Amino acid sequence: MGTGTEDYYRERAPEYDQVYLKLERQEDLRAIRAWLPAVFRGRRVLDVASGTGYWTDVFADHAAFILATDVNDAPLEVARGRREWPTHVQFAMADAFDLGHVPGEFNAAFVGFFWSHIPRASLEQFLRGLFRRLDDDAVVVFMDNRYVEGSNHPIFRTDDQGNTFQRRKMENGTEWDVLKNFPSLESLKSTLEQYVPRVTIRCWDYYWAATCSS
Ligand SMILES: C[S@@+](CC[C@H](N)C(=O)[O-])C[C@H]1O[C@@H](n2cnc3c(N)ncnc32)[C@H](O)[C@@H]1O
Repeated sequence: MGTGTEDYYRERAPEYDQVYLKLERQEDLRAIRAWLPAVFRGRRVLDVASGTGYWTDVFADHAAFILATDVNDAPLEVARGRREWPTHVQFAMADAFDLGHVPGEFNAAFVGFFWSHIPRASLEQFLRGLFRRLDDDAVVVFMDNRYVEGSNHPIFRTDDQGNTFQRRKMENGTEWDVLKNFPSLESLKSTLEQYVPRVTIRCWDYYWAATCSS
């Protein structure tokens, strides 16, 4: 069980943050940065597939505790060096499909730009494992890309399960076929409502966020 993107993101770690420099996305990013921290104020947050910690940084000073986890140490290493972190922010390697081993108790989770990399057939297992780790009154934010022609890599292949793939190039010239799904907002909501009573979907031009609460 996995996303098939593990090797790709290990190699991409040093150049990953460039994705947040795309000019056309800056207004959205500003809006999300203004909205997100209050959602996690005073909460104990499990940051799943936290990567280089771009979003961890956004809510770090508002949360009571954050365990930022990723299957790869390379992006976590970038995250550790991103800033001087408060002591309530910690980092650990963890497979998002095996969160049972992660120490701690959490009443919030952030899952940034990971949903799109989960094979459709593995989504249920991931969500079941995640919600099992959270208190009943937890708040969970899933956030990811909307497909916008010209801003996203084009989809070049769809497999027989409906997973879509992009062909991406790294700075060293290597090419990678990367699973990247773009769920409809309706399917997001109906999927999440199987796990939590309240699901609110927010949309910007380039991003969506689903906030789950009891
Ligand atoms: C698109 S990046 C998102 C990083 C960060 N959350 C953000 O929003 O900037 C996806 C991350 O998922 C991680 N990843 C891939 N497969 C994983 C798995 N099975 N378990 C945990 N993390 C995984 C990658 O290492 C990468 O850091």
